[in-house]
Amino acid sequence: MSKPGVLEIVEVHPGTTAKLESAYALHRLWEATDPRALVAKVAPEMRAVVTNGIAGVKGEVIEALPKLEIIGVFGVGVDAVDLAAAKARGVRVTNTPDVLTTGVAELAMALLLDVARKVTRNDAYVRAGRWPKEGDPPLANSTEGKRIGIVGLGRIGRAVARRAEAFDMEICYCGRTRQDDVPYPYYSDLVAMAREVDCLMITCIGGPTTAGLVSREVIDALRPHAWLINVSRGSVVDEPALVAALTEGRIAGAGLDVFAKEPAVPDALLALDTVVLQPHQGSATEETRGAMGQLVLDNLEAHFAGRPLVTPVL
Ligand code: 8YV
Repeated sequence: MSKPGVLEIVEVHPGTTAKLESAYALHRLWEATDPRALVAKVAPEMRAVVTNGIAGVKGEVIEALPKLEIIGVFGVGVDAVDLAAAKARGVRVTNTPDVLTTGVAELAMALLLDVARKVTRNDAYVRAGRWPKEGDPPLANSTEGKRIGIVGLGRIGRAVARRAEAFDMEICYCGRTRQDDVPYPYYSDLVAMAREVDCLMITCIGGPTTAGLVSREVIDALRPHAWLINVSRGSVVDEPALVAALTEGRIAGAGLDVFAKEPAVPDALLALDTVVLQPHQGSATEETRGAMGQLVLDNLEAHFAGRPLVTPVL
C-alpha cells in the first residue's frame, strides 16, 4: 500500500520532518514557491496535515483537502487551527501537551528571575564597559516572599507554581473555576487579583475564550512595582495597554515570550531596559522539541493504525 500523504505547513522541527519523510509521502508547504499551487496539486492525496502552534491550519486549507483525516499540531496551543472547519469535516486534531510543560515553565521562571534580578539589563551594562566607569548598577529585587498571581492554573501554570514555591514566593491564581486540589488562594476576578500581586504570570490558553483577558483595566490595576510575564499567547493581553504602562513606568517590568503579531514586536518595547524579550521560545529546547515531534509522530501512527489517538483535541 502506498504511504499516506502528509502536508507539512511549516517546518516543525528538522528531526521530526526527517522522520515524517521516511514514514509518509511528505509534501513541504514551507518550501513551495507557490503554496496555493502545491495545495491544489497534492490535495487529492493528503490524509494528514502537520503544523505548529503559531501557523496552525486555516479553514481554506482544510476545505481544499478532500481526503484530510487528521491534523497533528506540534504545540499545545491549537488556537491557530480552524477547529470549527475541522469539526465540520470530521477531521481529527491532536496536540502535544505535557511534554512541553517543563520547558515552558522553565522559561517563565527564567523571565521572572531575569526581570527581578535585572540579568539582561546588567549583562548589557557590563558589555557596554559601564561597570569600571560608573560602578555598580542600581539594585535589583528579590522574588522571595513576593506574590505571584497565575492566570490560568493548567498544566503549565501548576508547573510554574511549583517552581515559584521553591523560590519562596506566595502563590495565588485566577481561572474559570476554583481548583480544590491546590492550596493556593483563588480569585474569580482578575482585576482584584492584579491589585494584590507583585507578579502577574500568564500561562492560560490562547484563542477566543481568553482574547483580551488581561485588559487595560487589569493592567491598570497592577501596582507600580509589579512585573508581568507572558508565556501564553500575545492575544491574551491588551498589548497597546501593556506597552503604555511599561513606557510610562506604571509597572516595573515585563518578561515577554509572546506577542500579538509575531514575529513583530512593538518598537516601544525595544527601547525599554525594564523588559526582557524572547522570540517565542517556551518549548524551544532540544529535549522538548524532540519529545513534541515524537508525540506528533505517535499520534499519526496511532491514527493510521486504527488505534486511539494519544493526545486528541478533536
Ligand atoms: C511552539 C507553542 O513554539 O505549544 C505551543 O502552543 O506555541 C509552542 O510550543 C510552537 O508550536 C512553534 O513550534
